[in-house]
Formats: sequence, C-alpha cells, structure tokens
Amino acid sequence: MTELKKLSNGFEYLEIQNDSATAKIALQGAHIFEYKRKGKDELFWLSEVSDFELGKAIRGGVPICWPAFGMNNPDLPQHGFARTSLFELVSSIEVDSDTTIVELRLTHSKESLKLWNYKFELTLKVTVSDSLNIELKTINTDEKEFKLTQALHSYFKLSDISNAVVKGLDKKPCFDALTNKNFLEDGDIVFTQEFDKVYQKVDNEIVLQDKEKTINIKSEGSSSVVIWNPWIDKCKRMSGMKNDAYKEFVCIESTNAFEDFVILKPKEEHTLKTQMCF
Ligand code: BG6
Repeated sequence: MTELKKLSNGFEYLEIQNDSATAKIALQGAHIFEYKRKGKDELFWLSEVSDFELGKAIRGGVPICWPAFGMNNPDLPQHGFARTSLFELVSSIEVDSDTTIVELRLTHSKESLKLWNYKFELTLKVTVSDSLNIELKTINTDEKEFKLTQALHSYFKLSDISNAVVKGLDKKPCFDALTNKNFLEDGDIVFTQEFDKVYQKVDNEIVLQDKEKTINIKSEGSSSVVIWNPWIDKCKRMSGMKNDAYKEFVCIESTNAFEDFVILKPKEEHTLKTQMCF
C-alpha cells in the first residue's frame, strides 16, 4: 500500500508498506528518508533535528545530488538543486505482496532553467522489497549536450562509527578531498577522524560492516564512490545535525563524480542504480 501523507506544515511524503518492508519518500527531492525491513532496524540514519520544510534538504536518508555533485559545477548550489525540488508521483505499483515500485519525476521548469539552462527529465524508481533498489534516470530533452555529476548520498545508520568497517575499496584509486591528494587505498576502511574521499574504478560490491549487521551495496552506471563522515568539528558546523551525530552514521554514496562524470547528448539517457541488501 502506498499512501500520500502530509505534515502539519504541508510537507508531503509517501508511506509505502508491504509484507517485506516499509519506506517513506518525500516528494521534495524524491528523498527516501526511511526504509525498514520487517523485523530489522532502520537502514538509514535520519537526523532527529532535520528540517522537513520546502526549500531545505532533509538531513539523512538518501538525498539525490543532481545535476552536480558537491561543487563540481560552481554555478550551482552545493550538490545541485534536485534535493530541494518538488517531484511528482508518476506511479506506485504493487508487484506482489512483498514488492512495491514507486516512480517520481522532475522536469525542467522556469526556475531550474534559470539555475541550469538545460531541459531534462529526471526519474527516480524505487523498489521497496526485502532489498532496496534505487534507479535514477536522466534524459536529456534539450537540443544541446550537458555534463552531469550526481550522487545517491546514502546516510547509513550505525551502532557507533567506531564499529564501522567498509570493505571492497582496497587498492582503488582515491582522491582525498581534505588533503587534495591522490593515492591507492590500502586495506579496509575504519573511521578515526574526518573522512571525505572519492574512490574511482569501483565495479564491485561494497560491504559496510557494523556490530550486528552487514550491508551490501552494489551500483551500476557508476564507477565512483564517495565515503564521508564529518567527525567532531565539522559536525558542529553542519546544518540539521546534533553535535555528536557523526557517531551515528557513515555516508557511502554511489556517484558519478569527478572524472566519472557523464556527458549526455540530446535524447540520450543515463541511469545510476544502487541496490542495498542487509
Ligand atoms: C559529501 C561531501 O558528499 O556531502 C562533503 O563529500 C559534504 O564534503 C557532505 O560536506 C554534506 O554536504 P551537504 O551539502 O549536504 O551539507
């Protein structure tokens, strides 16, 4: 069952329930902010002090960074404008009692053309089942080509950051955004300080291990992954986050970022997919 719900300030979201899982997706940003398998904990971290307000991105869940990741396009706001744009619900289909597929769409508007002068169709397809599948499809409906960088910026909930281990990035080329240095990763990743790195040439599954759970993440249409945790000082400066929130999550972001950008000619399309199992 999929229901359209509204907070008292008019902020709208979809609540999806089937026999295997529940999920909540805001119409603003097509932002998945909850996903829970039956009998399991929440998959995503969601800040208890997040805004749920038009024009402000939700802190947690899976923000869509589009059409630019970070400041890859300095003419756009950080992480682009999709996460604060209102999507329309295209369809919600009950495939069977365990599986619901929801599609939301954003197309260019007067406002978007002022920020980014391209016509586009952006569709998020979410399959809520005993795994979560997210597909972000961009179609260039303009007469000129455009460059795209993007991310499915997932905030994974942790028992504690000290218990988190990320596997699958050993020997991958990596750019450290904090030191501006390139190097090859060495071994599994653990967190003891601020972490903001983009890994390239990633074509394999990534595994996030927490104390009592293992999350498997597999992407398609992407060869880059960003791993981020703000740690103590940056966390205090972040909007929509309590001072010690950095202990509760790590972001593992399926991206087309930096050298892994996408060029779309008129009528061409690109889909960034990620599947999360736990
Ligand atoms: C990450 C970036 O993807 O997003 C970080 O690598 C950034 O540098 C973080 O701080 C959060 O960004 P924002 O815009 O949601 O505060």
